[in-house]
Amino acid sequence: MKDASPQTIYLSDYTPFGWQVADVHLTVKLAPKATRVVSRIHFQPNPNAPAQDFFLHGEELKLIHAAIDGTEVTPELTPQGLRCDVPSGPFLWETEVEIAPAENTALEGLYMSNGMYCTQCEAEGFRKITYYPDRPDVMATFTVRIEGDTPVKLSNGNPTDSGEGWAEWHDPWPKPAYLFALVAGDLVNHPGAFTTMSGKEVELNIWVRPGDEGKCAFGMEALKASMTWDEEVYGREYDLDIFNIVAVDDFNMGAMENKGLNIFNSSCVLASPETSTDANFERIEAIIAHEYFHNWTGNRITCRDWFQLCLKEGLTVYRDSQFTSDMRSAEVKRISDVIDLRARQFPEDQGPLSHPVRPESFQEINNFYTATVYEKGAEVIGMLKRLVGDEAYAKALDLYFERHDGDAATIEDWLRVFEDATGRDLTQFQRWYSQSGTPHLSVSEDYADGTFTLTFKQETPPTPGQPDKAPQVLPIAVGLLNPNGDEVVPTTVLEMTDAEQSFRFEGLSAKPVASILRGFSAPVVLDRETSAEEKRFLLAHDTDAFNRWEASRDLARGCLFDMVTEGAGPDTAWIDALEQVIRDGDLDPAFRALMLALPTQSELAQMLHAKGITPDPDAIHAAAETLRNAMAERWSSLLPELMAATRVTDRYSPDAKQSGKRALGNAVLSLQTRLDGGKAAQAQFDAADNMTMQLSALSCLISAGAEDAALAAFEQQWKDDRLVMDKWFALQVAATKPETAAPRAEALTKRPDFDWKNPNRFRAVMGSLAMNHAGFHAKDGSGYRLLAEWLIKLDGKNPQTAARMCSVFQTWTRYDAGRQALMKAELERIAAKPDLSRDVSEMVGRLLS
Ligand code: BES
Ligand code: ZN
Repeated sequence: MKDASPQTIYLSDYTPFGWQVADVHLTVKLAPKATRVVSRIHFQPNPNAPAQDFFLHGEELKLIHAAIDGTEVTPELTPQGLRCDVPSGPFLWETEVEIAPAENTALEGLYMSNGMYCTQCEAEGFRKITYYPDRPDVMATFTVRIEGDTPVKLSNGNPTDSGEGWAEWHDPWPKPAYLFALVAGDLVNHPGAFTTMSGKEVELNIWVRPGDEGKCAFGMEALKASMTWDEEVYGREYDLDIFNIVAVDDFNMGAMENKGLNIFNSSCVLASPETSTDANFERIEAIIAHEYFHNWTGNRITCRDWFQLCLKEGLTVYRDSQFTSDMRSAEVKRISDVIDLRARQFPEDQGPLSHPVRPESFQEINNFYTATVYEKGAEVIGMLKRLVGDEAYAKALDLYFERHDGDAATIEDWLRVFEDATGRDLTQFQRWYSQSGTPHLSVSEDYADGTFTLTFKQETPPTPGQPDKAPQVLPIAVGLLNPNGDEVVPTTVLEMTDAEQSFRFEGLSAKPVASILRGFSAPVVLDRETSAEEKRFLLAHDTDAFNRWEASRDLARGCLFDMVTEGAGPDTAWIDALEQVIRDGDLDPAFRALMLALPTQSELAQMLHAKGITPDPDAIHAAAETLRNAMAERWSSLLPELMAATRVTDRYSPDAKQSGKRALGNAVLSLQTRLDGGKAAQAQFDAADNMTMQLSALSCLISAGAEDAALAAFEQQWKDDRLVMDKWFALQVAATKPETAAPRAEALTKRPDFDWKNPNRFRAVMGSLAMNHAGFHAKDGSGYRLLAEWLIKLDGKNPQTAARMCSVFQTWTRYDAGRQALMKAELERIAAKPDLSRDVSEMVGRLLS
């Protein structure tokens, strides 16, 4: 039954559950259309909770019977759960319910994917499996018996016993229900082993469908590297005898950290050189680390309520970014993270969906697994670390694990640990969790008599529900360079706490050039009026790799801005300054590849909008094309040279060194394609023996409009590989010219292999359409219409994935009146759909408000 009137839940309404759960015993008798779940739960009154009715969550369950201490009871049932009179002391609660995993297309709770049973319980999916207090602050040990005829049956914790048609598992660590998992199917394992720092042997397995066992080796190595890293860097050891990972084809998210049984979208764990790109390998390494790191930051210490989601997600994203920095290049990782933050979090924070890192209300929690909670949440931890220093950070983290192990904790707990470990008052810092919006930081400079003064002003524009903003604590990392390019003041962290504040540097022999916000030390928009000459100086001389990149990015943004608004030509001075960096063989190729990318068209649209100019997606697209053509022409002799220098002759490895070379080579290939119409790209496509080279060649051919033969060959080669075909679907829409984006996406949806109920395939087409900026924003509204139609269709089957994708409309008020009206009409059409899910209804409501 559908929820008629969605309710808003408030952080301020938090009350503990009236009972504690001593232990949970589940027996799951598997059958596709009639699985029986028998639960035996020991409840005891919670002395720390106010009196309340006994209410258990439960949705879409068929109650067979319920009993208290062995006596049948008849609870009052609602669409959200059940209410029952219970004894005043401890009691044993028993129920049996029936569910239909084969009919579960929402991919939440217990469902089937390719004949395999699997679960997804975060955030509130356990209530679709049985009646339970489905909230993270109720923690219990679980014993699970699985009955069914599948060869493999897995759950959390350690295996305790098994026989013909059954298996039992016990998880000794108390956990909230969202960490419950069960998997059963015809699976094969890629085994591994790990010895922890205290000498305990842990059995490792990656479970996959038969045929995929050759794609597990990389994931297994990443898992072992993560386990080692968490011991060495955070002193955290694994705590069970076994750690299982399962790959599932139908999965709403990337992966899930269920205790001892992580479940992964197969796209985030399966890898081979022939079928996966370097970017895929890097993502897999990061996501395996992320889910593994949750074992401590998320599982051993969990969240009191879902408002505290950033407690586990922000911290774990921060930890996985540290891991990637250590495994690969810290500078390249930082630049990539900032590109991602600006592409995903800034638009969110500057539009109708803006919310604090710790939201204060929601209707559907699934809508708050956002870039703000995750990526801004991680930035906040990075700032905290910069403010207190590395040593104090380590001390605070030790205290956090010591003090809160086994707890369901809050952001207040987290900050108190830092206060106690450092003696700092973090009252003002806490605003980073409660205040939404992106601060704008402006800076002016003054030099007189050897003293250089930087004056900063911060201001955060109003966001939904927050008209007035208070100043934030901003760590501003600054370095000063002499006019000859030498660094006179190395990176220093200025701590800004006021709306306006000055900082002085004394004893200088000449007016320095300031490098401000090094390493992107705070997630702000820096408004800085500097000359192009000074930016080129920083591009050439800054010792901070991030700011070197940023200087170039700034010049590119300025150039595109002038092209769009004044009809100016490409900035050849920038192109020439960039050439010096691109040519520098001493610089990391991965860094040089990043230097070659232009700001995204969406980023430019945001910049124009912020300056009061209505962005025209077609004009932005045209300017970007003109600029890239100019780069290609100006570097026509350099490009073949660079291509040759980046050739990899060793056996394929996805490591940072090789993948950096390929990234640079492929960035160069895309420029070269503008000169030769696709000749070099076709040659690379024909010779490619790995997916990175094959796919980037295909991308170039699509941009050049010379893709027909290659697309057909690619399809022929890969038609039986679902994950590779996702790339084929995605690229055609993402890389094509704007005018063909929506028509192509529509044509792809008519193919028999457009299995739209599979989230990966749906996103491959519809997500890519939204990524093709000028294509999605086609003036006739065809992009908007197609996407809205499919969101309406998907809402009926998988509300969570449909709702997440609604965010592509979050920038709708930036554009001209015509486009705004078209987008608004589509949003209203979605809102008017009968039986619209709570998930999509909340998203559309916020978008339109
Ligand atoms: N706990 C989440 C998975 C999740 C998200 C479950 C939303 C339910 C609702 C998991 O740890 C996670 O964050 N996964 C990310 C990838 C990660 C590398 C940031 C994902 O799935 O995208
Ligand atoms: Zn996570």
